[in-house]
This record gives sequence, C-alpha cells and structure tokens, in this order.
Amino acid sequence: MLLSIRFSLLSALFASIMLFSCGKDDAPAVPVPDPTLYERLGGINAISAVVDQFLANVVADNRINARFAPTVADPYRTQLLRNNLIDQVCAGAGGPCQYKGKNMLDAHTGMNITEAEFNALVEDLVAALDQFSVPEREKGELLAILGPMKSDIVGQ
Ligand code: HEM
Repeated sequence: MLLSIRFSLLSALFASIMLFSCGKDDAPAVPVPDPTLYERLGGINAISAVVDQFLANVVADNRINARFAPTVADPYRTQLLRNNLIDQVCAGAGGPCQYKGKNMLDAHTGMNITEAEFNALVEDLVAALDQFSVPEREKGELLAILGPMKSDIVGQ
C-alpha cells in the first residue's frame, strides 16, 4: 500500500516534469538565423522589380532625369546601370550577388550632384518601395545602407 502511494506520487512528479520540460521549451537544438534583408525583401525577383520601378520613376522625374538622358539613350548603358543597381542592392542586403560596378565616389565624381538631386533620387526610390508595399522595417534598413553613400555622391 505504502509502496503503491509512493509509486503514484513518483509517477505524478515524473509526468509533471515531462509536461513542463516538453511543453515550455520546444526551441530547435540548432538556432535558425533570422532571415536577411535580402530574403525579407523577397529575393532577386522582387529586388529587380523594385529597381525597374525606381528607374522608371527617375526617368519620369523632371528634377533629375536630364542627368540620365545619355544613359536612357543607350540600351547597353541602361542595362548596365540596371544590373549594377540590382547587384548593389542585393549584395548590400546580404544576398548572393557581387557588385561589379565602380565605387560610388568614382561613379559620381565630376557630376557635381546637389543635395536636392540626391533627395529627389531617394524619393523616387521610396516611391518604388511603396509601389511594391515594402514594409517600413525593410524600407528603413535599405535606406540606411544607401544613406552613408551620400558623401561620396553629393558635391563630387
Ligand atoms: C544612394 C544614391 C545613389 C546610388 C546608390 C547610386 C548608384 C549608382 C550606380 C551603382 C551607378 C553605376 C556605376 C557604374 O557604372 O559602375 C551609378 C551611376 C550613375 N549615377 Fe548614381 N547613385 C546614386 C545617386 C545618384 C544621384 C543623386 C544622381 C543624379 C541625380 C546619380 C546619377 C548617376 C549617373 C548619371 C550615373 C551614370 C550612369 C551611366 O553609366 O550611364 N546617382 N549610380
């Protein structure tokens, strides 16, 4: 009798330990890394679509489109700029691309780009991101990657 009470108490204790330890902590043994910005943006197809929309916005933007007139007039240059922008965003966001274009200082030296022009271009990018309903967090992270490039682009 005493033995069976002890046995029941022990089984109840064991069962509750199992219940608590199994139910509470079902985290995987190997931690899964958070998705990169590249993944959260939707990968290469989503980034390409945003870059295409961004270029369309720039070409329609009378504040800065004259800057890109020679590029737009040459399909090879347009394609090269598009590919460079896709690679730049993809690589900056932690994706599997390699940016093969010029660094930002070399690419923009001699253009004397103003702060107003820089802001106009950023607005065109934000509009493209909004057109694809990119959430605030991802939008902010992408702009935070591009923002520090400003000093290599403006006034050079
Ligand atoms: C964060 C802002 C910007 C980024 C990330 C950016 C990025 C780039 C990239 C990747 C290239 C191609 C470099 C290469 O050919 O190797 C480029 C070229 C160029 N950028 Fe920018 N840029 C920015 C701002 C601006 C602004 C504000 C303007 C003028 C309003 C501008 C005008 C140009 C022009 C005219 C070219 C040459 C295009 C060509 O080769 O035909 N950029 N930029």
